[in-house]
Order: sequence, then C-alpha cells, then structure tokens
Amino acid sequence: MGKWHMLAAVVLGALVGGCDRTPDRFAVNVLFARNQKLATNVDEFATPQLQQRLEDIESAVSRYFGTPPEPRVPEVEGLDLSRLFDTPQLQLAAAASASSEGATRSGLYHQLCARCHAAEGSGQGPAARQLNPYPRDYRRGLFKFKTTPTTLPPTDEDLHRVLRRGIPGTAMPAFDRLAEPQREALVQYVKYLSIRGQFERALITEIALELDADDRLLDPRAKELQPTLYDRQVKMLEALLAEVVEPWQETRGYQPVVPAPPDDYGTPRSIARGRDLFFTTLTNCGKCHGDTALGDGQTDDYDEWTKELEPAVPAALADYLALGALPPRNSQPRSLREGIFRGGDRPADLFLRIKQGIAGTTMPNVAAQLRDEDIWHLVAHALYLPQDPLSRPGVE
Ligand code: HEC
Ligand code: HEC
Repeated sequence: MGKWHMLAAVVLGALVGGCDRTPDRFAVNVLFARNQKLATNVDEFATPQLQQRLEDIESAVSRYFGTPPEPRVPEVEGLDLSRLFDTPQLQLAAAASASSEGATRSGLYHQLCARCHAAEGSGQGPAARQLNPYPRDYRRGLFKFKTTPTTLPPTDEDLHRVLRRGIPGTAMPAFDRLAEPQREALVQYVKYLSIRGQFERALITEIALELDADDRLLDPRAKELQPTLYDRQVKMLEALLAEVVEPWQETRGYQPVVPAPPDDYGTPRSIARGRDLFFTTLTNCGKCHGDTALGDGQTDDYDEWTKELEPAVPAALADYLALGALPPRNSQPRSLREGIFRGGDRPADLFLRIKQGIAGTTMPNVAAQLRDEDIWHLVAHALYLPQDPLSRPGVE
C-alpha cells in the first residue's frame, strides 16, 4: 500500500482490507475523484481542502443511502424507489445481525461477495488482484451480461441469472444453492450499490463542473443560517439522484424480444453464411476475434472501467495505482472455439449478445446494420466453431 493510499484509507475509513465483516463506512470513490480532477495529483489528496471535499461526498451519499451496517432506501419526495429495493432486503444482504449463537454476523454480501467485489462494490476486494477478468465495479451501473439494450441497466432477472449461473470462464461463482429469497436480497443489494455508486459519481462530477473552490456540496451549517441555500443544495442533490434512478425505473419489466430463427437456421448453409458475415467489414467480427476466431485479433483495447484510469498517460496512471487501482489489463476478445459463453450458450442468449453487444467492452452492437436472420446465421456459426477443425476451417 502506497503512502497516500494508506493516508486516504485512514482518513476516509476506506476499509480496503481483506475481511468479510461489515465495515462501518463505504470507501469514497477516490479514483473517480482523480479522474474528474478534484485533485490533479496524488499529493493533493492529503490537503485539508480535498479531505473536506471527500468527507462532504461521503456524508451526502450516506444521507440518502445509509452505511454498510445500516443500508437504506433513499427517501426523496416524488421519487418512488420502493420497487427497486426495500430496506429489510438490503439489511438481509448487508447489515450486521445477531446469529443463533448470539455472535454478530455480517450480511450475505459481506460473507459471499465482498472479497471480490469489495464492500462498496468497486470490484477491488482483497482477492481481486489475482483475477482475470477483474470482478465487476458496480458503481457505474454498467453490466455486461444482460438482455436489455446497451444503454439500459440490467433487469432483476438478468442479475438473478448471473447469480444462479455464475459467469463461466471467470472467477464469478454460481450461487445456485442459495435460497431464492437470499438471492433476491443480493440482487437488490447489487442494484443498491450501483445506484449509490452512480449517485456518488454524479456528485463528484457536479463538484468538478459546477462548484467553486469554497462552495460546499451540502453545508450542514447552512440549514440554520442560510435555509434557502441549504434547500437549493438539497434540491440539486435530489435532482441528480432522480437522474441516476430513471434508467433503473425504465428497465423494470423490460422483456427482450428474440425473433424466431429462419427455417434454415443451423444448416451448413446457415453456418457458411454466418462465417461469411463474420469476416466482412460490415460486422468486423474477424478484426477483433481474429482470422481463426481464437480471440487473437485486436487485443490491445481497454474496457470502459479501465479507460478511466487513463492507461496511456503514465503520470496519471501512476496516481491511480497509488490510490489503489488495480493494474490495467487489456480487454480480450473471446476465443469462440472453446464453446464457453459467459452470457449463456442458448441460441437466444447468443442472439441477444451479438445483437446488443457487451456493454462496457469493445464488443459492438451490430443490430443497426444487420437483419435478424443474419444475426441468427452468426449465432449458428459461433455455436459451430468449437467443432470446426482449425486446420481446415469451414470444412464440414
Ligand atoms: C471469486 C470472486 C468473486 C466472487 C466471490 C463473486 N464474484 Fe461476482 N464477479 C466476479 C468476476 C471476476 C466478475 C466479472 C466477470 C466478467 O467481467 O466477465 C464478476 C461479475 C459480477 C457481476 C456482473 C455481471 C455482468 O453482467 O456484468 C455481478 C452482478 C456479480 N458479479 C455479482 C456477485 C455477487 C452478488 C456475489 C456474491 C453473492 C459475487 N458476485 C461474488 C468475481 C466474483
Ligand atoms: C471491436 C472488437 C469486437 C468486434 C468487432 C466483435 N467483438 Fe465479439 N467480443 C469482443 C470482446 C472484447 C469480447 C469479450 C467481452 C467480455 O466478456 O469482456 C467479445 C465477446 C464475444 C462473444 C462471447 C459472448 C459470451 O457470452 O461470452 C461472442 C459470441 C462474440 N463476441 C461474437 C462476435 C460476433 C459474431 C461479432 C461480429 C458481429 C463480434 N463478436 C464482433 C470484441 C469484439
């Protein structure tokens, strides 16, 4: 742990440490604070001004979302969050509770998920450094394996499915033995951490773009002394929260539409059509997945999470690493010859995956350019590839 990281950890109560108990506070998203230039170098994180900023962020977020031992649903007039999550479920997922032996037990999330995803959902749990891919940082509200269009967050069912199946080919385990109500509590808690994290990001951006050096996000002293200012600050926070919540409300009840495959789907002709499409410049599949679909085409890109660490700017990257970021790794296109599909291997899963792309990664959504039946031929080809003899590609 670097000197400043240590300092940030102490001052912010950022418990990055490796434990499965419920910490008292959520760590502040210092990486995004650096990204939005609340501080332009890592030393500035130690200044009283910046520490005040970070404290303000923490207290504004916990005003609405509570703390790890006491998570709660934000209460804001005119904003009904009751259908996204409810406080008893969040508490089942996270809060400390007394077990039958009378000892205090941490909630499910801290027992089952935090060692990879971390208490605040940053994906920087103690086990994360060794894993490839890294565990998801939920705080952008960006998820890969879902049935919704790229711009929408996942549905509850998408998250349930990830928990039931795990993500094959990665460290993300299947939690298929958990009872349904426990999984439901975890799904709600993932949404909670996402929305909470997105709100925190919105506050950081607000500070960066809108506030002067001596403006406070929410000045507790103003409540008595300058009530109009205080009201304005509260309204601003709540408007930002409403903006974050909107897509999550919109995605509720979303039903993906998977059209029926064409009659010749899966026939040698269909697979050959899929292969042709795979290597055209219209789809560019081969450019990333490689001439043999082994995943060795374009391999030097980064995903959206990593791009925020400015991997091409050495001085900036050094700051992020000093603040605790995991070292950047390139995002690898998948080898399609292994038959391992992270988002599911049913034809309908692959149809949606190819049509909608994989959010947060370079895998594009080709929906706009292709006819549904051509997407089906691409699916047929992808499912055939594991049986395709590599030395004589295309020979049946
Ligand atoms: C051993 C490490 C590990 C544990 C434990 C773990 N995860 Fe994960 N999780 C991962 C990894 C790695 C990924 C990213 C996989 C990828 O990017 O393809 C991930 C991804 C996810 C995603 C994102 C799926 C998407 O579509 O982007 C969710 C949601 C998730 N995990 C929830 C959980 C929950 C809830 C728990 C606890 C019940 C949990 N995970 C426990 C490693 C773990
Ligand atoms: C710009 C690069 C790029 C292009 C173009 C591209 N892909 Fe991908 N693809 C990726 C990456 C990166 C991944 C892995 C994403 C991840 O899981 O992190 C991926 C993953 C996949 C997967 C695995 C899905 C799963 O559930 O595991 C399939 C199937 C796939 N791509 C098919 C295609 C097809 C078909 C095309 C053309 C229509 C295509 N890709 C075009 C980069 C690309």
